[in-house]
Amino acid sequence: MKYAILGDIHSNLEALKAVLADAREQGVTHYACVGDIVGYNSNPKECLEIMRDLNVKAVRGNHDHYCSHDENLSGFHPLAADVVDWTRRQLSEEESQYLHQLKYVQNVETFTIVHSTLDTPEMWGYVFDKLEAEANFNYQITSICFYGHTHVPIAFEKGDGIRSGLYGKIKVGLGRKYFINVGSVGQPRDGDPRSAYAIYDMMSNVIELRRVAYDFRITQQKIRDAGLPGRIAARLAVGR
Ligand SMILES: [Fe+2]
Repeated sequence: MKYAILGDIHSNLEALKAVLADAREQGVTHYACVGDIVGYNSNPKECLEIMRDLNVKAVRGNHDHYCSHDENLSGFHPLAADVVDWTRRQLSEEESQYLHQLKYVQNVETFTIVHSTLDTPEMWGYVFDKLEAEANFNYQITSICFYGHTHVPIAFEKGDGIRSGLYGKIKVGLGRKYFINVGSVGQPRDGDPRSAYAIYDMMSNVIELRRVAYDFRITQQKIRDAGLPGRIAARLAVGR
């Protein structure tokens, strides 16, 4: 079984299509999503339909949460709040219900998926450092947990202590725990504008981070055509 783990797609149809083409080339057979299918970019309905057609196992991201029901957006950055408001108006009742019934945490095969962190998933905390990862590990029962939310790929490995860093390929070791950020399909923020996602080959027990280029100029034009904030389009070119 070969899983593609996608996250933070954020309504970016061009990026999603490029990633799925790469995943198919790599022989991926199953799909999981660490949340935020919608928000920011201009194709929420299309991205949602594709992911549902793939029979994806998904958890709820903060944008999925706020885009799918009326709740005060005071905690949101004004730019993001504008798009949440816009996305709410695009989604059908049925699409909103799908997003809103997604769990915060889900076990898939032998691993776990969460958008933010296992200790308080509904608080939408960000895990950037070892201290934050440690809090997560206290609640992590499976050897591997994939997450998103920061849009920055990074791996934490817990053995005697916790090690962290960028990753290319990880051979999963016995008796160790891994908390792995798969990066963002639709709005990377690590300075690399290419989409990011991970492949977990359950036969060889290897996790690989993939980067895929796509034509973000099309996505940028669609954002402007939809009347969404120009800064959301601009950031796609620089991966911030
Ligand atoms: Fe996100």
